[in-house]
Amino acid sequence: MSDLSLTIMAETANDAHAIERLHERTFGPGRFALSAYRLREHVDHLLELSFTARIGTLLVGSVRQLPVVIGETRALLLGPLTVEPPFRGHGVGRALLERALRDAKAKGHRLVLLVGDEPYYRRVGFKPVPAGRATMPGPVDYSRLLVAELVDNAFDGVSGAIRPDWSEVRHG
Ligand SMILES: CC(C)(COP(=O)(O)OP(=O)(O)OC[C@H]1O[C@@H](n2cnc3c(N)ncnc32)[C@H](O)[C@@H]1OP(=O)(O)O)[C@@H](O)C(=O)NCCC(=O)NCCS
Repeated sequence: MSDLSLTIMAETANDAHAIERLHERTFGPGRFALSAYRLREHVDHLLELSFTARIGTLLVGSVRQLPVVIGETRALLLGPLTVEPPFRGHGVGRALLERALRDAKAKGHRLVLLVGDEPYYRRVGFKPVPAGRATMPGPVDYSRLLVAELVDNAFDGVSGAIRPDWSEVRHG
């Protein structure tokens, strides 16, 4: 896939329906039981730090980020990251991740968390959260809880419960 054909853009309100259908196809109805969704229930993802991948007008991938805290420290929770099956293995996921992390850093964010496969995410700088350092609401496989430091050593001394960032909480 040539770079020219792929466009990464900030998500807009008009993308919601297509992204929801992509999530439904990828993760199925069981997705709402995932621990990460307990956080997503309370806080909206940040449109300016969530991205779509398109080939022409066709939406082929999406990544979202929402504001959380770890203890008292602000962070982003990345996910879901999804690429349409026929378009996997061409760098779309990586392009979405790199854009999400780059723009997060540019906006002053220092830490990004996610729950996912370390062999995939370590390519863009994610490392396992050391056991016991941070807790998710609800059951989670802690070996899959990963963190990326956008600023060197930003995770030093950070610990605690991962919760929605209540300063950004959705009202009504
Ligand atoms: C994971 C996902 C987003 C990757 O998107 P993609 O556009 O195919 O990713 P890229 O093209 O950037 O990278 C592909 C590479 O990652 C590897 N890869 C994909 N999923 C992987 C995983 N779970 N663990 C390790 N490596 C993985 C591929 O084998 C490929 O390797 P190669 O470059 O050596 O050939 C996509 O497969 C997807 O949507 N999967 C279903 C949803 C999902 O699992 N999302 C992540 C939830 S944590």
